[in-house]
Amino acid sequence: MTEKITIAVVGSGYVGLVASVCFAEIGHQVICVDNDEAKISSLRDGEVPIYEEYLPELLARHRNKSIEFTTDLHAATRRSQAIFVAVGTPQSQTGSADLSYVDAVASEIARSITEYKVIVEKSTVPVYTNEWISRVIERNGVPRDLFDVTSNPEFLREGTAVVDFLHADRIVIGVENERAATLLRAIYEPLTSGRYYQTVDAVPGVRSSVDPPPILQTSTKAAELIKHASNAFLAMKISFINVVSNVCEAAGADVEEVSRGVGADARIGPKFLKAGIGYGGSCFPKDVAAFRYVAEQLGVDFGLLREVEKINAEQKRRFFQKVRSALWTFRGKKLAVLGLAFKGGTDDIRESPAIDLIGQFLMEGCIVSAYDPAAIERTKQVLPPSGTLSYAKDAYEAAGEADALLILTDWQEFVELDLDRLRYTLRYPIVIDGRNLFDRVIMAQHGFTYLSVGRAGGVQVRDSALTSRLP
Ligand code: UDX
Repeated sequence: MTEKITIAVVGSGYVGLVASVCFAEIGHQVICVDNDEAKISSLRDGEVPIYEEYLPELLARHRNKSIEFTTDLHAATRRSQAIFVAVGTPQSQTGSADLSYVDAVASEIARSITEYKVIVEKSTVPVYTNEWISRVIERNGVPRDLFDVTSNPEFLREGTAVVDFLHADRIVIGVENERAATLLRAIYEPLTSGRYYQTVDAVPGVRSSVDPPPILQTSTKAAELIKHASNAFLAMKISFINVVSNVCEAAGADVEEVSRGVGADARIGPKFLKAGIGYGGSCFPKDVAAFRYVAEQLGVDFGLLREVEKINAEQKRRFFQKVRSALWTFRGKKLAVLGLAFKGGTDDIRESPAIDLIGQFLMEGCIVSAYDPAAIERTKQVLPPSGTLSYAKDAYEAAGEADALLILTDWQEFVELDLDRLRYTLRYPIVIDGRNLFDRVIMAQHGFTYLSVGRAGGVQVRDSALTSRLP
C-alpha cells in the first residue's frame, strides 16, 4: 500500500479536471486549482462542466473527501508534494503554442515554494518548456535543490477521458533525477501495480483482463516530444486514410474494406484509420501546428505535417463539393444536419468540421436544421438560431421536409435511427454521410440515395430523388 500523496492540479479544463478526479480515485489527496471563481464554485457544488463518462460519478464519490477545489494556488502549492500544471496552451498566430498561462502559473508557484516540490507538465507543451519553467522558478529566487520540473504527458481522448486515464496504454514520466522519478512512480503505483483494478468499484476498462500500464521513464525533453509526436502521428494516420479514401472513390473501391485490410497488419494497426471529413478537436489541429513550428525553430523542416494539415482542410472542402453536386444549387435548400461535436461522445465543438461546414452552407443560402445529442447548447453560443438556422430536438425533427440529410459526427445514436421513418420524413431521401456510419446496400434497400466518403458514388436501387429533380 502506497502513501496518500497530496497533489495540486492547476487548471480545471479537460485534462486538469479528469486528472484531479482520477488521482483522487486512485487514492490521493487532490487540490484542484483554477482562477475562474465561478467554475471552482460550481465544481464545489458537484456540477461537472464537461460531458464525460464516469466523471459525475467519480466526482460525487470523492468530493468533500479526497478532492478539493480552490482558487488559491499559493496555499495549494504549499500543501502539495507535486504540482501538475494543466492549464491551456492555445495556438498563437504563428502556429506555436502560447505558453503565457504556463509562465504565469510557474511564477506564482515559485513564490510559494519553501520546501522541495515536483512540478509536473501535464498540458501539451513544446520541447524545452521544462527548461523555461525551471528558469522562471529560479529567477524568482528558489534554490535549484528545492524543485524539479518533470513532464508527464496525458493521452486521454475526450468522451473516454476517465477510462483512458485509468487504463492508459503507458504512463510516460520525463525526469532528470531519481528523486522526482520516485515521487511520480509512487503517484501512479496504484495503476502500475494493478492494485487499483482489484478494487470493487474500479472503473472498468475496455479490455477484460487488465494488464497494468507500464511506466516509461525518459528525459523530460523526450517526454515532451512523445506527446507532440504521438498526436502528430495520429493526425497523419487520419489524413493518410482520407487521401486513400479519395483514391478509392476515383477507383471505385470501398475505403472501409481497404482500411480493414491495411489495419490488419499488426505493424499498422486498425485504429485511427477511419476516413471522414477530417479531424478536429482541441488537440490535433493545434498540436500538429505547434509540432511543425517547434521543428522549424530547431532547424528541421517537417513538411510532412504541412501536408497533413493541407489534406485535412481539403477533406472538408471535398465534402462540401459532394453536397453541392448532390443538390446542384444551394440557395433556399433545406439541409438536415446530424452532428455538431467534433466527434461522437462529446459536447465539444472546438475545431469541429461540422461547425465549419454549417457556416459555409449558411453562407450559400441554405436553411439548416441541426441536431446533436450533446452539443447543441455549445453550438448556439457560436451559431445562434436565426431565420436560416434552427436546432431540432431529435434527428427526425431535423429531417422534416429536408432536401438532404448530412451526417457530420459519428454518434452511435445516428447508427440506430429508424431508416424507414427517416426516409418518409425527408422531402428527398438523400443522405450524405461524412462518417461512413451506414452500410451502402442497406441504405439503398431503404430507398436512399446514399453518398459517403471513399465509397464510389451512391448505390441507387430505386428511382432516385436526385435524378427526378433534374430539369
Ligand atoms: C486526441 C488524442 O487521441 C489524445 O490521445 C490526445 O490526448 C488528445 O487528442 P481527442 O481530440 O479527444 O483526442 O479525439 P480523437 O478521438 O483522437 O479524435 C480526434 C479527431 O479525429 C476527431 O475529429 C475524430 O472524428 C477524428 N478521427 C479520429 C477520424 O477522422 N478518424 C479516425 O480514425 C479517428
